[in-house]
Amino acid sequence: MKPPSKRPGSSTAGSGARALKTRIKKTKLKNSSRRWLERHLNDPYVHRSKMEGYRARSAYKLIEIDDRYHILKKGLRVIDLGAAPGGWCQVAVQRVTSSDEDKRVVGIDYLEMDELPGVKLLQLDFLDDEAPARLMEALGGSPDIVLSDMAAPTTGHSRTDHIRTMHLCEVAADFAISVLKPGGHFLAKTFQGGTENELLDRLKKNFKSVHHVKPAASRAESVELYLLARDFKGRAPEIVEEAEDAENEG
Ligand SMILES: C[S@@+](CC[C@H](N)C(=O)[O-])C[C@H]1O[C@@H](n2cnc3c(N)ncnc32)[C@H](O)[C@@H]1O
Repeated sequence: MKPPSKRPGSSTAGSGARALKTRIKKTKLKNSSRRWLERHLNDPYVHRSKMEGYRARSAYKLIEIDDRYHILKKGLRVIDLGAAPGGWCQVAVQRVTSSDEDKRVVGIDYLEMDELPGVKLLQLDFLDDEAPARLMEALGGSPDIVLSDMAAPTTGHSRTDHIRTMHLCEVAADFAISVLKPGGHFLAKTFQGGTENELLDRLKKNFKSVHHVKPAASRAESVELYLLARDFKGRAPEIVEEAEDAENEG
């Protein structure tokens, strides 16, 4: 698969396609479903992901963030939380050059996923008690990067959805802090106005730089935002010892 080179919707990418806007006739579809379908059919990132072989348009969010911050480097090990259908895993595989002989990318999702070359997949709820140990075992060492694009299933009650996704972000951050290699990075989906100060403070204490990123591929009308914490400072020696003791006892 060729790495993408142009931003969809730019003057050189698919301008003709944009002119032919697809409209869905009024049918028995609910208005909200019709609007979603129209937006999907007219989305340049959806067209481009089909042409370039990515499983999801969300792949471009990671591509855009990584093109700017260069966190995914050749040879690094990556854990991808909430991996289905696999767009982020595909990008990670290309950029860290993972292969079936040396799998450097592990993805977890409770949804079933089709296999991907260079990726070890776990079908498991990340909130399950055994998930952290299973992820570490699958990767066979500490990760350099923890990615999380996890989003809670929508309930129709936006406040509830918001709280659930924020909870996933917090658990992902705890996981990253407990397993990352020093110098490692953490990237996670969050919501505008949703990142609790307590979480930000914890990340700032543990990483040299922490900030929010809104890639162009993330829809402007969406409250979605990404939290990028770079250069993990490492765990205090007593915490590393405790973790090693627990590992030896278990
Ligand atoms: C926006 S999608 C991820 C898209 C993915 N980054 C890609 O590029 O294909 C969010 C995913 O998070 C998963 N998810 C949500 N909560 C989860 C949990 N507790 N454990 C594992 N996966 C979870 C969902 O099943 C869903 O597949």
